[in-house]
Amino acid sequence: MENYGSTKRLVLLCFSLFLMQYRGECKVETIEFNKGFAPLFGDGNIARSDDDKSVHLHLNQYTGSGFKSSDLYTHGFFSAKIKLPSTYTAGIVVAFYTTNGDVFEKTHDELDFEFLGNTKGKPWRFQTNLYGNGSTSRGREERYTLWFDPSKEFHRYSILWTSNNIIFYIDDVPIREILHNEAMGGDYPLKPMSLYATIWDASDWATSGGKYRVNYKYAPFVAEFTDLTLQGCSVDPLEEFTTPSCNEDDVTSGFGTVTPKQRMAMSKFRQRYMYYSYCYDTLRYPVALPECVIDPLLREQFKDTGRLKFGGKRRSYSQRRSKIARGRRYGN
Ligand SMILES: *[C@@H]1O[C@H](CO)[C@@H](O)[C@H](O)[C@H]1NC(C)=O
Repeated sequence: MENYGSTKRLVLLCFSLFLMQYRGECKVETIEFNKGFAPLFGDGNIARSDDDKSVHLHLNQYTGSGFKSSDLYTHGFFSAKIKLPSTYTAGIVVAFYTTNGDVFEKTHDELDFEFLGNTKGKPWRFQTNLYGNGSTSRGREERYTLWFDPSKEFHRYSILWTSNNIIFYIDDVPIREILHNEAMGGDYPLKPMSLYATIWDASDWATSGGKYRVNYKYAPFVAEFTDLTLQGCSVDPLEEFTTPSCNEDDVTSGFGTVTPKQRMAMSKFRQRYMYYSYCYDTLRYPVALPECVIDPLLREQFKDTGRLKFGGKRRSYSQRRSKIARGRRYGN
């Protein structure tokens, strides 16, 4: 009996360790706003909770708002639980991203989640993207829908960035992984970045290429952020070129490794919810960019739908890009 009991306990312990490992929830450390962040723009539209663990970013007819991490980081795990505005959200962009555009204007690096609002009753869509060393002429967008309504409850959105790979996570599902490939050269982000979160009016392009603008009858639009996580190797902005004595494996809490189970969840997500990927857009990139790993199933899918639908619009992508950059800089 004695033995049986301890075996059972051991099995239970292993199982919960396995769950923790898989879920990752136990491993992330959250940080209070004032310990890691500062307002970026629209200060009057930033509302912090009493315990300083949650932040609401408002967009009204006067301005959007945003915040950024006070430090720059070389690699890390950046994460927040986010709840997006509901009802009519056309023209609105909520962005959660890392960049160093303020420090390196011409050679900036960037990793993006960009949530693109929609008309009433239509689900939110979003995109992920990356730039390295100012590679703005080579957008690497992927666009997706979601398996849940992101305006109904909080979900965790995470950006993992190491010297080996970049992974975008939603909750425990890795939705995109980019392996560092020598052929990418400077297109792979290499310089320290800060974490940003913003809400702003992108009426000109966000929803159906600008067909549906922000309707301020529904204002204020509120994006809620909580359980902010900044696990990175921080560097002093004044000494940004020094190599910090920080082990990226330690700070990323195992999020740099995708388990076989997670890999299955990732392919499932990409087959069901991805509706555009630059890797399958042969009109835009006749030769796929070096990091692209072509999935025959997806190539088949995109031949019939996504690529054809978006292929003719490739010019508007670069236009959108510059608008994103402008919108962020000026906060409008
Ligand atoms: C980044 O771009 C700058 C300016 O174009 C160039 O001098 C530098 O070599 C590039 N760095 C990498 C790592 O490619």
